[in-house]
Amino acid sequence: MKVELKVNGKPVSADVPENTLLVQLLREHLQLTGTHVGCDTAQCGACTVIVNGRSLKACNVLAAQMQGAEVTTIEGVAAADGTLHPMQAAFKECHGLQCGFCTPGMVMSAIDLLAHHPRASEGEIREQLEGNICRCTGYQNIVKAVQQAQKATA
Ligand code: FES
Ligand code: FES
Repeated sequence: MKVELKVNGKPVSADVPENTLLVQLLREHLQLTGTHVGCDTAQCGACTVIVNGRSLKACNVLAAQMQGAEVTTIEGVAAADGTLHPMQAAFKECHGLQCGFCTPGMVMSAIDLLAHHPRASEGEIREQLEGNICRCTGYQNIVKAVQQAQKATA
């Protein structure tokens, strides 16, 4: 089937089997491999992208459901000149990553969090990021990064 949507601001169309997941559309058909697959069962959050302004686990929806949607992936958050998004910059500065596997999904969830709760408390940040699993950092520096981005964009 043909799916037409916008990805990172650009119109795209792809011919995909009906059972194609959004994460497969992104990674295998559009070569946007910054969106990771950690579990394939909607638990780890590595595949998180933003769809129509809300974060969503791309392993948990069909590409067919994205007809007409606006999808933003980690490849679409930096400025056109390569300047990092404030959330990316904060993760870098606060050492909010080690292996980096969870990081694209973490950053997308954190961007969504601050877009809807700009004054989120530490507890709310931890709660909102519960759907994103990191095997490396112990989360402390991830929370610090979100708080730094919060200050930078206040
Ligand atoms: Fe989608 Fe883990 S790969 S939540
Ligand atoms: Fe390695 Fe999070 S930085 S899984």
